[in-house]
Amino acid sequence: MARQAGTSRILIFGGTGYIGRHLVRASVSAGHPTYVYARPAGPQTRPSNLDLCREFRSISVHIIEGELEEHEKIVATLKQVDIVISALAYPQVPDQLKIIDAIVSAGNIKRFLPSDFGCEEDKIMPLPPFQEFLEKKRKIRRATEAAGIPFTFIAANCLAAYFVNFLLHPHDPRDDIVVYGDGEAKAVLNYEEDIGKYTIRVANDPRACNRIVTYRPKSNIISQHELISLWEEKTGRTFKRVYVPEEDMVKLSQTLPPPENIPVSILHSIFVKGDLMSYKINEDDLEASRLYPEMQFTTIDQLLDVFLTDPPEPATAAFE
Ligand SMILES: NC(=O)c1ccc[n+]([C@@H]2O[C@H](COP(=O)([O-])OP(=O)(O)OC[C@H]3O[C@@H](n4cnc5c(N)ncnc54)[C@H](OP(=O)(O)O)[C@@H]3O)[C@@H](O)[C@H]2O)c1
Repeated sequence: MARQAGTSRILIFGGTGYIGRHLVRASVSAGHPTYVYARPAGPQTRPSNLDLCREFRSISVHIIEGELEEHEKIVATLKQVDIVISALAYPQVPDQLKIIDAIVSAGNIKRFLPSDFGCEEDKIMPLPPFQEFLEKKRKIRRATEAAGIPFTFIAANCLAAYFVNFLLHPHDPRDDIVVYGDGEAKAVLNYEEDIGKYTIRVANDPRACNRIVTYRPKSNIISQHELISLWEEKTGRTFKRVYVPEEDMVKLSQTLPPPENIPVSILHSIFVKGDLMSYKINEDDLEASRLYPEMQFTTIDQLLDVFLTDPPEPATAAFE
């Protein structure tokens, strides 16, 4: 079938996941023929996944069922597409070496975006459990570069609905909200739908080839105190702020068994150290809101309105 000019065929690994589904929808909305490589449906498949696959088929997404171990099947799939985006879950990050091998064998892929969707892991130095977590993602970046695959690495920062659900627990009537550290460090919260749209733009953008792109729009930089105050304004409620001091978080990161020591280390990096804002974005660095000034990021203010009217469901694998 003839393809529309300016479109690419995009294959998404992890397309049924929390962030992956937004990539799939954004890819289809932008008119790209979209492919999802997903685990075969079986008795353990969640009903919500079956619904999602039905939704995908209804919008003409090509679903290829296969395991990450099926090298030949992945190579054959890659030969039908131009761009590969991985949104595989964190435990599957090392498995992306199999995707890299298959990309090398296929030899036709114009861009690979590995499963980052978090902080700029090459620029920060968090507590050891988070450091080990990031090391696995860094290895995939280095393997991509070493294989000579054209890439874009994404620093999407905090997935906003995921973190609003976690920090403000809007589904729960409790009157207390936990504040990590002193609540003043600035974080960056980007709405999942926007991350989907920007990632599809970036994946197709020649300026982003072999570059890192950070998503740091000014309207989405916020501290915990500012976020709670904004939520108080919108709900007309007052929340008791319960502080977890930095020393307690560091201690927990040292005493909890893995992998339970990872979430507290991530929270320390984002909300105590302020790692998402700890490095400067210079003139020649790529930042999404500067690359695409015509696109509107959902502001935190607008996102909290979404939570008031039609709250997004929490992710199944959130911190709690
Ligand atoms: N910055 C942030 O705030 C933030 C928050 C959360 C996640 N993240 C990052 O975003 C990325 C994606 O995370 P996510 O939470 O969206 O992941 P997720 O929802 O848990 O899962 C993503 C995908 O991985 C697939 N998967 C899981 N186990 C698999 C296996 N054994 N074989 C093949 N596929 C498998 C899932 O398939 P099924 O649907 O079949 O299970 C799903 O499609 C990760 O890099 C993560 O670190 C960032």
